Amino acid sequence: MYTIIDGRKVSAEIKQEIGAEVKELIRKGKKVPHLAAVLVGNDGSSVTYVNNKVKDCAEVGFKSTLLRYDDNITEAFLLERIAALNADSDVDGFIVQLPLPGHISENKVIESIDPAKDADGFHPENIGRMMIGLPGYLPATPYGIIELIKRYGIQTTGKNCAVIGRSNIVGRPVSILMSQKGMDATVTLLHSKTRNIKDIVREADIIIAAIGSPGFVTADMVREGAVVIDVGTTRVPAPGTKSGFRLAGDVDFENVAPKCSFITPVPGGVGPMTRVSLLRNTLMAVRLS
Ligand code: GUN
Repeated sequence: MYTIIDGRKVSAEIKQEIGAEVKELIRKGKKVPHLAAVLVGNDGSSVTYVNNKVKDCAEVGFKSTLLRYDDNITEAFLLERIAALNADSDVDGFIVQLPLPGHISENKVIESIDPAKDADGFHPENIGRMMIGLPGYLPATPYGIIELIKRYGIQTTGKNCAVIGRSNIVGRPVSILMSQKGMDATVTLLHSKTRNIKDIVREADIIIAAIGSPGFVTADMVREGAVVIDVGTTRVPAPGTKSGFRLAGDVDFENVAPKCSFITPVPGGVGPMTRVSLLRNTLMAVRLS
């Protein structure tokens, strides 16, 4: 029998903890934590993510601000808006939702964010701190994955961990966190140029799939008793549903789950944990300020 890792349940617990901490801050006369989000354009997934982030803030008692811009704004305009957020002492942390339109450099934008307000943990300074194990903001999805693994008491020491996908926001940072002291996994980072992906994944005790390719991880790639973390959230058409789409993970859940010890569902696995990580980073920004 396998255990379904319930990201909704864990994220609800963490939100309770954060909500209690916010009440305590207010009782002590401290300011209400304030997270701002910048959204450029109308990409469906991004709009949903950002709206959910705003909802989460309300739920735990944070103040939130959503700044929405047309996708034809210039890079210079966006950089000015970021400079204003950096300078706004009421804003504790903020994020710029990715992806950005092609004419705006994501790297330039990320580098322009004050590392002390970088609630997504994407700034090179925070990535560098994570690399050498210094305290700092952790990228939201990797942070959420590590928290799920810890709260489910999953053993990682000495385990083989295959991370599929080398993106800057999930695959690469989670590979670093899994190999760090305390997690102590032996990590292999797999990507589109990797040879014999199936053979390598088959040797893994822990599989973290973050490629955005629905059903990529099939049952023949998974060893008996493996832990499977599915980060995929691809929108696929689902005629007859209200939205017209459903979220598809990177794992063929139905056939893979029976071989696992633990597995995350999509939706309701990693997604809610990403959102709650952002709240945790914001609270840390308040504590540090
Ligand atoms: N796009 C997909 N995931 C994320 C995230 O965690 N943060 C931001 N800013 N953009 C994203």
